This record gives sequence, C-alpha cells and structure tokens, in this order.
Amino acid sequence: MKILVIGGGGREHALCWKIAQSPLVETLYCAPGNPGIAELAECINIGADEVDTLCEFAQAEKIDLTVVGPEVPLTMGIVDTFQQAGLEIFGPNKAAAQIEGSKEFSKNLMAKYDIPTAAYQSFTEHSDAVEYIKQQGVPIVVKADGLAAGKGVIVAMTEEQAIAAVDDIMLDQVFGAAGSTVVIEEFMEGEEASFFAFTDGKNILPLASSQDHKRVYDNDEGPNTGGMGAYSPAPVVTSELYDEIVETIVKPTIAGMAKDGCPYSGILYVGLMIKDGKPRVVEFNARFGDPEAQPLLVRMKEDIVPILKACARGELTQETLEWHDKAAVCVVLASGGYPSSFNKGLAISGLDTAAKIDDVVVFHAGTSFKNGQVVNSGGRVLGVTGLGSTVKDAIDKAYQGVAVIDWQDVHYRKDIGARALNR
Ligand code: AMP
Ligand code: GLY
Repeated sequence: MKILVIGGGGREHALCWKIAQSPLVETLYCAPGNPGIAELAECINIGADEVDTLCEFAQAEKIDLTVVGPEVPLTMGIVDTFQQAGLEIFGPNKAAAQIEGSKEFSKNLMAKYDIPTAAYQSFTEHSDAVEYIKQQGVPIVVKADGLAAGKGVIVAMTEEQAIAAVDDIMLDQVFGAAGSTVVIEEFMEGEEASFFAFTDGKNILPLASSQDHKRVYDNDEGPNTGGMGAYSPAPVVTSELYDEIVETIVKPTIAGMAKDGCPYSGILYVGLMIKDGKPRVVEFNARFGDPEAQPLLVRMKEDIVPILKACARGELTQETLEWHDKAAVCVVLASGGYPSSFNKGLAISGLDTAAKIDDVVVFHAGTSFKNGQVVNSGGRVLGVTGLGSTVKDAIDKAYQGVAVIDWQDVHYRKDIGARALNR
C-alpha cells in the first residue's frame, strides 16, 4: 500500500513510526513532515491545510490510504474532498469534525444524548453573556465556539476575568469568526484524562488510557499549552471507570452522531474531567491527541494499518486492542518561552546519542533543517518517549533520553508522570 500521513508534528511522527512497521506498507509519504519523519517517510512539501493540492498529489501518486493528523484540514473538509475524488481517507468528514470545530455543536450533542458534561449556555449577544455570568457567579469557563489554536478557553476565577474574556472574544474578536458565538459553562473540578477510540461511524475500538500535562511548568503551574508530556496507562482510569467511559460517553456519542445523520469515523478524542470516580466530558476533539499519541502508539502491539483502513471503509469489526505490558512516558522538550514567543533556528545536539538508547524513541515536532543541522522551529520541539516495566521505570528511561539532548533555552518539565506515581 501507498500511505500518506498529513501533518508534521510529534503526533504525525508517532503515526509514521507505527505505520512504517506495517508489512502492508510499500511507500510512506508525509506532508509536510519534519526532519524526524524524513527518516521514515518521503516528506512532501505541501502544507497540511492545502486540501486541494494534497488531493491532487494523492490522485497522481495513487495513494491507497491517507491519514489526517491535525484538526484544521478535518474541519476544512479534507475528508469530503478526498472521498469525492474516490480516495480512501482516515478521519471524520467536515460535518462530523464539528464535534471539535464548534463547542456549541458538541455541547448540544451531549445535552441531547445525556452525555455527562458541564452545564452550559451559548450566546451570540454580548449583553446576554454578561448577564449570565453575573447570574451564575464564579469560577466559570468562557469558550469561543470555533477553533482558536487551543487558546479559546478561559477559566475565569473572578467576574471581571469572565467579562473581560467575553469582551475579548465577542467585541474585540481576538479569535475572529471563531468567537461570534460563546459557550459559557460550569467550572468542573477534578483530574483530567484523555480517552481515545477508533470508530468507523458505528463500531468502536477503544485505546488504552492516557493523560497529558497541560501546564507549562512543574506542579501544573503557568499557562496551558498543547501538552508538555503524557503517559499511558493512566492509573486514574481504573477498569471500572474505563468501562463507564465507553458505555456512558463513547458509545452514545458515536450512536448520537449517526442518528443525527452525521456519522463520525476516525479517532475520537474525549477530554475528561474525573471527580470522585465519575467522568464528565471537557471537550471532544476530532483527531489523535498530541503528545498522547506518542506514548500510546509506542505501546500498541498490533499493526495499525488494517485498523485505519477498516475505519475509513466503515468495516471496523475488531473490538479490543493488544498493548505492550510496559508503561510509556513522553517528555516534551519545548523552546524556552513557549507558549509565548521564543527564538527559532537554534541547533539541537544529542539526537544521535539519544537514538542509541534502548527503549527510548525521540519524536520530532517543531524541528527543521538549517545548513544540514536539525534546529528548533516550533514551540514544542521534541517528544522523548521512554518505555519501562513500571511508570517509574518509563519516567527514568524518558529522562535518560532527555539528559543527552540539548539546545540553547530548552525547557521541559521535570515532573512528567509524577501524578501517576502519587496515586
Ligand atoms: P479545551 O480547549 O476545551 O480542552 O479547554 C482547555 C482546558 O481548559 C482544559 O484542558 C481544561 O483544563 C480547562 N477547561 C475547559 N473547560 C473546563 C471546565 N468546564 N471546567 C474546568 N476546566 C475546564
Ligand atoms: N494534548 C492535547 C491535545 O492534543 O489537544
């Protein structure tokens, strides 16, 4: 088979790493890819959101299966475009990707099908939103309806903060059209976890549990990021809780989408808040998590290609997945200053040494080549994933890899996985 992966971050490197191990694969392409991916796949210089150009490439190269990593092309309708051209593609179509692309859509779906989540209301009028905040009190959460590159959610501890957020989103339109509707919801306390399931629109195949670390500094301090590290399995998700998530969240979501004439296929990402052993949905995403994909794919035992293909074809019959007994922990190395501004183009050392350590895999996220050198080019630069017989061993492995890699201003958390150890 000829397979094309779309995207160029740590998630896509992990996907390419896993797909490249399949005996079914003859040629693997990735657009646009990155220097790490280039060791496994032929990187094509087409951006992940250049939907028509990607489709032309896939037609010309007779790609058998395309796998979409990021949310933007999904919400733009890349799946619809490819399917109209007769090409097989893994991911939800434009209508189904609204589950991530519109908070109002996903909240309405959850309300309709009794899926546990925070109480909410959505608003298109600024004055109504402000009135609601005053009525509800704080803490409260203000969300721009559309995609805002992970920045559209404000957890407000004071009424002033909440109203300022509504002003920013609705009056100053800091997220553009994404903020023409706001969703205001109840603040949920608890511990966050990520849950993923493959689906063909009818059947589901849940993955192992995982958790990421969203805040930039140790002890969960500082601003939210795309994720500073992740591990799998997540002890907070007991086997009873796992079953409850499948039965009360994943199954009704997939069944509800199908019933509403909007079947969802691909991988469903459920962001969870867990309190007193009960799960509630924080958000849905239409894609694999990043960095969660890195430890999860390293732990996955079986060939991923038949699963991706079955989802794309609506023929998913497999009900359980096999996982390596080992735990996996991924530590993200970021550019100093991330998630605010940072310097780019700094040479990274130690990648060759790290590659020689057993049970350590380094995935590239924000890297590029400059004068033949690998340099940083994004906020999250590398994901160093370690495997070990316990979470503690996996943490030690990952940090053994981290210790040999360096560049000017590198920043990483020293406590990835600690939450799992403290349980
Ligand atoms: P989202 O983009 O929806 O994942 O939100 C980003 C982050 O905001 C989440 O990972 C949570 O940490 C936080 N968050 C979102 N909604 C809520 C909520 N209702 N209660 C508490 N925290 C929330
Ligand atoms: N790790 C968070 C995300 O992928 O959105």
